[in-house]
Amino acid sequence: MNIIWNKSSEQFHLYNDRISYIIGVAPCGELSNLYFGKRIHDRDDFTYVMFRMGMPNIVVDADTESYSMELNRQEYPSFGTTDFGTQAFEVETSNGSRISSFVYKDHRIYKGKHGITGLPATYAEDDEAMTLEVDLEDEVAKMSITLFYTVFEDYPVIARHASFTNTGSERAKITKALSGCLDLPDPDYEWIQFSGAWARERIPKVRKLSDGITSIESKRGVSSANQNPFVIVKRPNTDEFTGEAIGFSFVYSGNFIAMAEGNSYKRLRILMGINPDRFSWPLDAGQTFETPEVVIAMTDRGLNDLSRTYHRLYNNNLIRGKWKNEPRPILNNNWEATFMNFTEEDILKIAAKAKEAGVELFVLDDGWFGDRNDDYAGLGDWKENPEKLPQGMAGLSRKINAMGLKFGFWIEPEMVNPDSNLYRRHPDWVLSVPGRKSSLGRHQLVLDFSREEVVDHIYGMLHKVISSSSISYIKWDMNRSLTEVYSLEAAAEDQGTIYHRYVLGVYRLYSKLIEAFPDILFESCSSGGNRFDAGMLYFAPQAWCSDNTDAIDRIRIQYGSSYGYPIVSIGAHVSAVPNQQTGRTVSISTRANVAYFGTFGYELDLNKLPEEDFLEVKKQIEFMKKYRRLIQFGDFYRLRSPFETDQCAWMTVSPDRKQAIVGMYCLRSNVNTLPGFLKLAGLDENTLYRMEGREYYGDELMNMGITLDLFYKNGFTVSEDYSSFVAVIEAV
Ligand code: DGJ
Repeated sequence: MNIIWNKSSEQFHLYNDRISYIIGVAPCGELSNLYFGKRIHDRDDFTYVMFRMGMPNIVVDADTESYSMELNRQEYPSFGTTDFGTQAFEVETSNGSRISSFVYKDHRIYKGKHGITGLPATYAEDDEAMTLEVDLEDEVAKMSITLFYTVFEDYPVIARHASFTNTGSERAKITKALSGCLDLPDPDYEWIQFSGAWARERIPKVRKLSDGITSIESKRGVSSANQNPFVIVKRPNTDEFTGEAIGFSFVYSGNFIAMAEGNSYKRLRILMGINPDRFSWPLDAGQTFETPEVVIAMTDRGLNDLSRTYHRLYNNNLIRGKWKNEPRPILNNNWEATFMNFTEEDILKIAAKAKEAGVELFVLDDGWFGDRNDDYAGLGDWKENPEKLPQGMAGLSRKINAMGLKFGFWIEPEMVNPDSNLYRRHPDWVLSVPGRKSSLGRHQLVLDFSREEVVDHIYGMLHKVISSSSISYIKWDMNRSLTEVYSLEAAAEDQGTIYHRYVLGVYRLYSKLIEAFPDILFESCSSGGNRFDAGMLYFAPQAWCSDNTDAIDRIRIQYGSSYGYPIVSIGAHVSAVPNQQTGRTVSISTRANVAYFGTFGYELDLNKLPEEDFLEVKKQIEFMKKYRRLIQFGDFYRLRSPFETDQCAWMTVSPDRKQAIVGMYCLRSNVNTLPGFLKLAGLDENTLYRMEGREYYGDELMNMGITLDLFYKNGFTVSEDYSSFVAVIEAV
């Protein structure tokens, strides 16, 4: 990895073994993108890739030899001079002008990577990455912009963000500040987004790109289940194993926009950042605003390779603390077993059976605090309900620990029910517009986390419960979108900052809790997967993937999630049948065969299982304990798509390629068909492997494939709905 500055041509070349990213100062002084793709040799000058043509209707800069921004690729484009595309940022000066021209001023190149104040970001040691900071200045606007680029040694990745500083003496306003822009020289790409809704999150949807705009966004205050802040552009012939693709992953948990725009000259512009709708940020003299980070990954080896890049980068350089690269505890959560209707005795019975099965961690979900017996009351009152927990969290955690289980509990710190002591005492602490009704979501209002005192107060309450007990895990939930976003404390001109300040408040509370309790494993949750994003992973190393725990639906949800997020971050549990969300009945083995490919746990009362299922659960837990490092941290391959076929298959391979596990699932039976073949991947061609009592060479498994009737004896048959198998492959 290196970053070269070629002074005579004023060009930067960032590269590692797999990629080159080349930027130059254009004749107009702004930065132009010259290349991003597979690694190429360095040269003194790549200016020849800039177009200089005076064509009718194109506005050119007369002083700079017919250079038009519209015809060239920009690095951080503005609007208002010679580019008519969508701009990456917009600054409004005190005289009302929104025209800007930020020209190259200075730069710094250094080893490693700095953090971003108050925001999550990838991190790197000095030998893992190099960073370039380029300062741009607009003398008229009296503002400077610094663009940050990090190239990693081990990943085909560029991480980007920007910062704005008011260098003048008057207040200015930023009305748009995206994190990055990538202009590509041709538009022959398809766009993959991960869309859905509650209980059907992150479903891949593919669109062909063309002239004009393709875009997704969130305006819900959370990254959202509707559109995930991760997109891929790929060549039309790129598949899981071959071809070019570029991923854009936003390390942020609030409103966002991701956009592709093809212009009339074959330029394809990709933009990602905080959604400019409802955003504005006043900047007084000397103040700085920093954007979140966007992680741009590139592959010429297909989508599986792109996903593995994100899996590895996020496991090694985003997730932090004790749980970084640590296999996750097998847990039992009581939510679907009891909902809010439980006594301590009920909980202890469920926990005792969980312990008997081999579970390691018991999680008490919603309903333990305040007057929380249904979802109409109690949120905000983070004090144990003595009727449910007579000796408080301290007493319950002691009893659970005495069984030999770790203990954790559920919180939803950003919310308040109108029927709560917190709301009665502080009705002005919610997001609401004076004189207007505030919309309820699950009978709750959103606390104004843009205010420090609100965050500090919630922290105080939570700190008390956590520090009085023995807590190893916390599930942090968030169950509604933000509406009527207005802070009763902020001035009129600051109201455009509130969505972002809210997210900063969430991150601040996470940071304070992590600092106070560094060993706690946090699992983020937002009505399931409503806030499953790279920003959250910096604080909570795993995320409850969906409230839909039906194994068959989960195959699709987990398959979609695997494109951008590590397997170890995907919260997945076995739940009861008929499934509470879908009414579907699926065998205990298929339920586990799906949940293995995630954090793994149980979301039910094991006392209620038939004896033979309980015996099976014991075996499942033994299996997961033995193979969880391989499954959670191995090289993951999607083999067969449940979106294109009635089957699904995926596998994970150990880094030394001596061990692998394959999962195969039948979503819908097909009568009178042959079982067919499944080609495996990622193995060593010359190694002899054993699977299900037979031996095969790696090349045989990967090129010829296995015939699926081999697994009939394990209960898998392509002619039976919801059958599945998981097989271990080991080098002989
Ligand atoms: C929504 C979560 O996704 C569920 O798992 C559960 O924790 C409930 N909230 C509790 O209210």
